[in-house]
This record gives sequence, C-alpha cells and structure tokens, in this order.
Amino acid sequence: MSSEVVLSVKNLETEFLTDNGPVKVLHGVSFDVKKGRTLGLVGESGCGKSVTSMSIMGLLPKPYGNIVGGEILYRGKDLVSMPSEEMYAMRGDRISIIFQDPMTALNPVHTVGKQLMEVLELHRPELAKAEQRHYALQMLEKVRIPMPEKRIDEYPHNLSGGMRQRVMIAMALACKPDILICDEPTTALDVTVQASILELMRELQEETGMAMIFITHDLGVVAEICDDVAVMYAGKIVEKADVFELFDNPQHPYTKRLMGLMPSLDHEPKQMIDIQPIDPSMFQDN
Ligand SMILES: Nc1ncnc2c1ncn2[C@@H]1O[C@H](COP(=O)(O)OP(=O)(O)OP(=O)(O)O)[C@@H](O)[C@H]1O
Ligand SMILES: [Mg+2]
Repeated sequence: MSSEVVLSVKNLETEFLTDNGPVKVLHGVSFDVKKGRTLGLVGESGCGKSVTSMSIMGLLPKPYGNIVGGEILYRGKDLVSMPSEEMYAMRGDRISIIFQDPMTALNPVHTVGKQLMEVLELHRPELAKAEQRHYALQMLEKVRIPMPEKRIDEYPHNLSGGMRQRVMIAMALACKPDILICDEPTTALDVTVQASILELMRELQEETGMAMIFITHDLGVVAEICDDVAVMYAGKIVEKADVFELFDNPQHPYTKRLMGLMPSLDHEPKQMIDIQPIDPSMFQDN
C-alpha cells in the first residue's frame, strides 16, 4: 500500500467574521491524505467537516470566511498562500469535490453534456468540441449511466437522485484529479443506491489511484469505503487511526460514543446519529 502523502493539512485554523466579531471554527486541524487511500472525516453536525473541505478547496465564503493559521500542502505546495488564479486552475482539475445534493451543484438550465463539457473547456481547452463530447460520453459510461447517448442531452431534473450523483462524479473525475473530496455524497440517497455509488467510487479510485477525503456521519459508510479515519469534534481532530484500529480499539471517548451508537450487525438502514453534548474537559489539549 502506498504511503505517498498527497495532501497534508497542518494546524489549520479557519474563522468566520460575524456581527459579534470573529468566530473560530477550526482550531488547528491536522491530517494527511495518501495516494490511493481514502481518509474518512467523521464527526457530529457542526463540528467543522464542511468548513475543512471548503478551506482546502479555497471556497470559503468571501470576505467572511478566512484561514487564519496553518498550511494546506498539496504535494508540498501551500494552497493557503497560493494566488487565487492558480487555485482556480487547480480546482476541478487536480482537486475536485462532490457535494451531498447534486441538484444544487448541477445547473438546472443546462444539459448534462453541456455541464460536463464546460469542465473540459475550462481545464482541457486543447480538446476540440467533438472530442469533448466524445470524452463526456465516455465519462457517463464510466460512471455507468445507462444509455449515455440519450442522457447526455437531458437536463438534471430528468434524472433520478442516484443518476444525478453519478453525473456529479463524472464531472468531478473528468480531469482525473489527484484528490477527490466527497462531502456526504450519498447521504441523500437510499441505501441500495448509496451502496452502488460507494462501490463505483472504490473502483474508480483503484483505477486512477486518486486520494479521497470522505466526509460522513455514517460509520457504516466509513467501514465500507475508508482506509484511514480522522474523528473530528468541535473544530479539532480528536482521533486518527486506520479503519481497523478505529473499529477494534477506539481510543477517544467521543469515538467510543460514536461506536456505541452504531447499528449492530443486522443490516438495517443506518440512522443519523444524534449526539448529546458531552463534557468539554475530554477535549483539552494534551
Ligand atoms: N458561512 C458561515 N458563517 C458563519 N459560521 C459558519 C459558516 N459556515 C459554517 N459556519 C459554522 O462553522 C461550524 C462548522 O460548520 P460545518 O458546516 O463545517 O459543519 P459540518 O461538520 O460540515 O456539519 P454537517 O455534518 O451538519 O454538515 C458551524 O458551527 C457553523 O455554524
Ligand atoms: Mg457539512
């Protein structure tokens, strides 16, 4: 198994400017993501998972959201200090993201094909129009959309939720990124569709060797797709382990609580975890 670190987040601190002054949301987040491996980022709602992914993508809402400390090293290059034009070129090309709700990420007024071709126009301008369309069709095939020749000229609302998510995956992977961030990509889907999307992502990862960050509430999904896990609580990483270690021997009290809430070995649909506040003294720095 490869141990080449593709992305290294070091002591990341992100804050938002609010009417009541700056509020820090990330308090020194650190983790590494390795080539061909998937890091699960788990934790309760509001702990800072999406803010972490937005910080990496350079997509914090401006001017309110700001990185105020730390580094995000992509193959040794700091994304935090990278000029915005360079970051713009990187996004969707070297580092891509898939969100939970493809309906908000896809443009309802353009066909699936046009949206896929836009990604190629931006990052692969050397391709002629016909080549772009050919490539877009190949991508739809790759994510196993049935009848891609027909689907390519349809609009997002003509597709099911699972199919829309496949289109999002096709767009995110069109340029063969080094890193794919998945922010709860299957939460809105029913369990069987979720399973087939996870399987597809695993296969595509094996084929391309990309590194993935997989954000989820669902420890069943973690067991399914992740190699390593970082557990986040209140803007900090409180535990890091490989997935077997984490399930066998959770160390942190918060992780143990997450495990305790996991459905047992039956195959019932996973439920959202509703965590009650626990004693903050557990999370003091050591
Ligand atoms: N635009 C914003 N302005 C101010 N605060 C924000 C903004 N976006 C996020 N936050 C705050 O940052 C914290 C972390 O939010 P984030 O969206 O990262 O949580 P999350 O872990 O992704 O939760 P979920 O599992 O519900 O998606 C929350 O307290 C949230 O209120
Ligand atoms: Mg989120």
